[in-house]
Amino acid sequence: MTQNCIVIVGASGAIGAALTHRFASAPNAQVFAFSRSPKTWEQINIEAGRLDFSDEDSIRQAAKFVAETGPVDRVIVTAGLLHTQTMRPEKALKELESANFEACFLANTIGPMLVAKHFLGALSHQRPAVFAALSARVGSISDNRLGGWYAYRSSKAALNMALKTASIEMARRNKQAIVVGLHPGTVASALSAPFLERVPPQQLFTPDQAAGHLMNVIEGLRPEDTGKLFAWDGSEIPF
Ligand SMILES: NC(=O)c1ccc[n+]([C@@H]2O[C@H](COP(=O)([O-])OP(=O)(O)OC[C@H]3O[C@@H](n4cnc5c(N)ncnc54)[C@H](OP(=O)(O)O)[C@@H]3O)[C@@H](O)[C@H]2O)c1
Repeated sequence: MTQNCIVIVGASGAIGAALTHRFASAPNAQVFAFSRSPKTWEQINIEAGRLDFSDEDSIRQAAKFVAETGPVDRVIVTAGLLHTQTMRPEKALKELESANFEACFLANTIGPMLVAKHFLGALSHQRPAVFAALSARVGSISDNRLGGWYAYRSSKAALNMALKTASIEMARRNKQAIVVGLHPGTVASALSAPFLERVPPQQLFTPDQAAGHLMNVIEGLRPEDTGKLFAWDGSEIPF
């Protein structure tokens, strides 16, 4: 049976760690779990490595390391940023700070696309292969009814555009490659924690539930889905 080679970038995060565990539980899986500070994993088919969006050489080295084992079947970028101790999503224009915009764009747009730059060439040409980055419904321009969250929204909208652009390039280079954005739903994590007060319990997923939903979507993707943005339930989100 062919081995499945899976790469998770942002494996220290809530959804990233849950996806790493789930993918590693599949038969014949070899999972590479990258994060800024590599974690220790119990499953022996998980190899941890360092990858930092602010250090492109770490991304280049990670891709080189993975390519030594052969073609890659799935690359899932699960890293992202909404707030830090000193940065809150903006409610009004007067709160805009260039440093916050830069931090959001590094984590949500530039980092994932540098991963695409270095990993897309390693995707399998023999069978359908997926590059997915976790985006967010709030990055949909047509879905924006509430406003606010300028930097996060903009960086996810830019990610959606960059993924679509990469999908067009990849359609010429590798017909088996599927490039998509994924919205995981509202998931209990450090990223969402300050904003969960008004979320009804039935609309809040655990990281493991979210990982299950995302795996279902990823494993159901077809080549004609490339360039699109999908929600956790498989529905397409218009840009
Ligand atoms: N949770 C939700 O409700 C929700 C909803 C919609 C979309 N999403 C998206 O889903 C993804 C995962 O979110 P989560 O809920 O699992 O968040 P999380 O638990 O806070 O994990 C965030 C991950 O991103 C990594 N990261 C942040 N900034 C980074 C940078 N500059 N360079 C490299 N890695 C960086 C973190 O690494 P460190 O451990 O090194 O800090 C961590 O692994 C994000 O893209 C988020 O936008 C989440």
